Amino acid sequence: RREKPRLSLTLSVPQPILTLDDLKRIAAYEAVEFVESGMVVGLGTGSTAKHAVARIAELLHEGKLKNIVGIPTSKTTEAQALALGIPLSDLDRHPFVDLAIDGADEVDPQLNLVKGRGGSLYREKRVESVSRRFIVIADETKVVEKLGESGGHAVPVEVARFGWNVTLERLRTLFESSGCVAKLRSNGGGEPFLTDNMNYIVDLYFRNGVAYLQATSDAIKRQIGVVEHGLFLDMATTVIIAGRLGVTVKNN
Ligand code: 5RP
Repeated sequence: RREKPRLSLTLSVPQPILTLDDLKRIAAYEAVEFVESGMVVGLGTGSTAKHAVARIAELLHEGKLKNIVGIPTSKTTEAQALALGIPLSDLDRHPFVDLAIDGADEVDPQLNLVKGRGGSLYREKRVESVSRRFIVIADETKVVEKLGESGGHAVPVEVARFGWNVTLERLRTLFESSGCVAKLRSNGGGEPFLTDNMNYIVDLYFRNGVAYLQATSDAIKRQIGVVEHGLFLDMATTVIIAGRLGVTVKNN
């Protein structure tokens, strides 16, 4: 059995030469220490989570982990995990997940998150909401005082394509008084961005961040046409932040 990292640990050895990608890898490797043989593991999506997927594969190949079943949260992660030989399943066959590991776009002091700027928010939330434990991994640039605070950072909302323009307009008017701008996400080539579920994404830019998290979350969810949104409230059980001065582990 592998040694577990201590909780609520802060190392204060300056690491000035670490890149952002090094920090992502450090956070990911710390999280994978919590994976045990026989677990059903939710595999997150993004440039941080991909390090966790690679590490799990490495430990499987070294024989240090056995009988892991991965539940990928996107087609991209599925392809990575398959290429690395991680046995995969889905929520139909494994509706309960022992542990999920995923990145985040923003983490606030209460460990609430914005996720989905990579577009995988529905599958991520679906898998992570049935995970007994959900470990968020992030570099220090993801830490904010208030979610969406910069105004340039969106809360993504996955919407059905049918009537998407009506849904966008409803969302825009709903949050108009808080200076919210709603934009259909583009794929960069002049076409709308398509999620793995063949839906669109509307990005909500709040001028001064999201003021009332639960009320905002509930109001977005109530709109017809909304599939899911990227506010992940009270879901993370542990957040591992890797910074240039060390690693911080926070538990909910
Ligand atoms: C994708 C996500 C990602 O977890 C989030 O965007 C963080 O990605 P990265 O680790 O690349 O910064 O929610 O939908």
